[in-house]
Amino acid sequence: MRPPRHHSDRAAPIGVFDSGIGGLSVLQALHTALPGEDIVYIADSAHTPYGERSDAFIIERSQVIAEQLRDTHGAKLLMIACNTASAAAAERLRQDNPGWPIVAIEPALKPAARATRSGHVGVLATRSTLGSDKFAALRHSIVDTHAGLHVSTLAADGLAAAIEHWAQSGDERACGALLDRYLAQLLAASDAPAPIDRLVLGCTHYPLLRPQIARRLPPGVALVDAGLPVARQVQRLLHATGLLRFAATHAVAPPAGRLELLATGSDDILRAAAERCLSAPPALAMRALAA
Ligand code: DGL
Repeated sequence: MRPPRHHSDRAAPIGVFDSGIGGLSVLQALHTALPGEDIVYIADSAHTPYGERSDAFIIERSQVIAEQLRDTHGAKLLMIACNTASAAAAERLRQDNPGWPIVAIEPALKPAARATRSGHVGVLATRSTLGSDKFAALRHSIVDTHAGLHVSTLAADGLAAAIEHWAQSGDERACGALLDRYLAQLLAASDAPAPIDRLVLGCTHYPLLRPQIARRLPPGVALVDAGLPVARQVQRLLHATGLLRFAATHAVAPPAGRLELLATGSDDILRAAAERCLSAPPALAMRALAA
C-alpha cells in the first residue's frame, strides 16, 4: 500500500466495503444512525464471495479496496462491513493505516449472549469467519463471562453467493434450499440442554434475507445482527475524534447525506440489490470500477 494520508475533514465521506452486497445491511443501519453523513460503499463484486477463500486473498483484496476508499475518496473513517474481511484483515489494515479510524464487524455474540433465556445461541457465518482466531477469541471470552452458555455454529457454505444471485434475479430457490438445510442442521445440532432461542446472523449478507430466515424458525427464536451496534460504534468514534459532520445537538435535521455505491467489475448485482434491499435512499449514485 502507498503511505497513508489521513483525512481529518468532517465533510469527508465514510468509506464502507464488503465482498459484495452484504454490507448494504450495514450501510442501511449507518444511514439511519447518521443520516447527514456522505457514504461511499465499494462492493468487491469481481471477487465475491470471500467466505471460502484464503486469508492471504482476503487481506490483499481488503488492502486494495481500503486504499481506494482512503486515497481516491478521502474517507475519514473505514467501516469493514464484512465479518469475513474483518476477521482476516482488520488488524493488517490498522497496521497499514495508523491514525485512520477503522471499525470492524464481528458476529453479534455479545448481545445474543446477554439476551438469551434458554442459554443456547446459534451462529450462522462463513467458513472463514468461524475458522478465524478472532472468532475463537470472541467465543472464548463470551463463554467465559456467561456461565453455562452454549454456542452452536454452522458454516453456511454457498449462502452468500446464493444471496448475490437472488438479489439480481429475484429467484430465491437456491437461498431457500440452503436455508432449509442449514437451519435444520443448526437447530437439531448439539448436546445442549435447551434449544436455541437467539440466532446470530454472522455474515452481513444474511440480514438481507431476514424475513426468509425468520419464517423458517420456530416461534421464540430471535434473529440478532450487528448492523445497528456497529453503526452506533461509528457514531461514537466520529464524535470522539471530532469528525461527526453534524453535531448531535443540531437544532434542525441535517441535509441528507449522499450515498455512492461502487462495484469492482459489473455493478449489475449491486444496483439490483440496492433497489431490492435499501429503503429509499435520498441521493444514490452508482458506478462500476475496474476489477
Ligand atoms: N458479507 C460477508 C461477511 O459478512 C462475506 C460473505 C462472503 O463473501 O462470503 O462475512
